[in-house]
Amino acid sequence: MRTLIRGGTVVTATGSFPADVLIDGEKIAALLDPAHTDALAGTADRVLDAAGLYVMPGGIDVHTHLEMPFGGTFSVDDFETGTRAAAWGGTTTIVDFPVQKKGSTLTETLDTWHGKASGKASIDYGFHMIVSDVNDTTLKEMDALVGEGVTSFKMFMAYPGVFYATDDEILRAMQRAAGNGATIMMHAENGIAIDELVRQALAAGHTDPGWHGRTRPPELEGEATARAIRLAQVAGAPLYIVHLSAKQALDAVTEARDGGRPVFAETCPQYLYLSQDDLDQPGFEGAKYVASPPVRPKEHWQHIWRGLRSNDLSVVSTDHCPFCYKDQKELGQGDFSKIPNGIPGVEHRIDLLHQGVADGELSPARWVEVNSTTPARMFGLYPRKGTIAPGSDADIVLYDPTAKHVLSAATHHMNVDYSAYEGREVTGQVKTVLSRGDILIENGEWHGSAGRGKYLARGTCQYLG
Ligand code: URP
Ligand code: ZN
Ligand code: ZN
Repeated sequence: MRTLIRGGTVVTATGSFPADVLIDGEKIAALLDPAHTDALAGTADRVLDAAGLYVMPGGIDVHTHLEMPFGGTFSVDDFETGTRAAAWGGTTTIVDFPVQKKGSTLTETLDTWHGKASGKASIDYGFHMIVSDVNDTTLKEMDALVGEGVTSFKMFMAYPGVFYATDDEILRAMQRAAGNGATIMMHAENGIAIDELVRQALAAGHTDPGWHGRTRPPELEGEATARAIRLAQVAGAPLYIVHLSAKQALDAVTEARDGGRPVFAETCPQYLYLSQDDLDQPGFEGAKYVASPPVRPKEHWQHIWRGLRSNDLSVVSTDHCPFCYKDQKELGQGDFSKIPNGIPGVEHRIDLLHQGVADGELSPARWVEVNSTTPARMFGLYPRKGTIAPGSDADIVLYDPTAKHVLSAATHHMNVDYSAYEGREVTGQVKTVLSRGDILIENGEWHGSAGRGKYLARGTCQYLG
């Protein structure tokens, strides 16, 4: 099957230019000067008209939690609903997090997640691994997983008694990563201090969702981020800070990068558009916005945008972790610490960040870079994914940068009963989505199928030697 995309503006991380794109089977075959494409059009099996549209690499969301166990329940998108919703939002690759339970091996955990994804995913997917039981076996298994394309391991300085790792455990895992080329991804919040603040708040009768934010102050994210950076320095390992939300944490990352350290960080749309005011909504509404780190007071937003421009924040992911308001978020009625942590967002990342383009915060090229190209390079998928170039997978989004639409639970495709962005109008909309040359979405209709998505064995971080 040969597909020709005609008349669009190709947008990559290096800039925008008019070009037609020829796809042969699953791969991009050529970028063509539109003045000389006429003769080719007749030889294509299918021609897609991209006049007035951006032609850009499919989004890569490197932080999702599909069917994830948390707080006695499971996130409600599985690999079928979650990957379909991702595609509707212009994301054609995800990297999800298998969760090691204490007492389980990494290998059996990975097998379980392969079972969850296989036959269900409609877009390509890779895996990181959450390490919650650091011991000699786990450390050895890390080497084996790198060989299987699981080249990044998430650890937690938060959630004592659940995922929490002590500094010596973190150091050991980092030392292992320094040897096998893996990347340690850190959830950097001081969970021991936070748990004490939570106990004090509950004892004082503060049970509302707003207290989730007040008991996880930005200083404790800044402190943990700085500590993780120091531990990585001692171990001689690179470090990737996940879901960075606060100026204090960004300052620590900026200082490390200015000092030449291999430290990277991602943020998420919720830290650009949601705030403590949302957590403080009347009644129990604030539960919809409970995630960790928490959404911050609005003054942090400008710093997060600045970090995205300066590349101290080099990736935008979603940390998509959807729990329904009814019956799941409601588990925390009367005790904010029991609200399952997570916000749905896999469908809205590209549009919310494009709103930043419309508002003058980012250029179109930078938007593509943080949503697709850098995630691909950071997690060993480039140039198969993350760009429009001959030989790359034909994961392509046709995007209308001028269309306006409203985000709502009534129209989204995520399997969750509310939208954290209900009623928000955004400028920019996905029109057509291709994954390895297959059309998944066209003219507002779904043409994908569960199970067509392939597992991606990833390489190591491509920003390091
Ligand atoms: O609140 C969040 N972020 N839930 C998902 C788990 C995590 O820490 O990423
Ligand atoms: Zn986390
Ligand atoms: Zn997460």
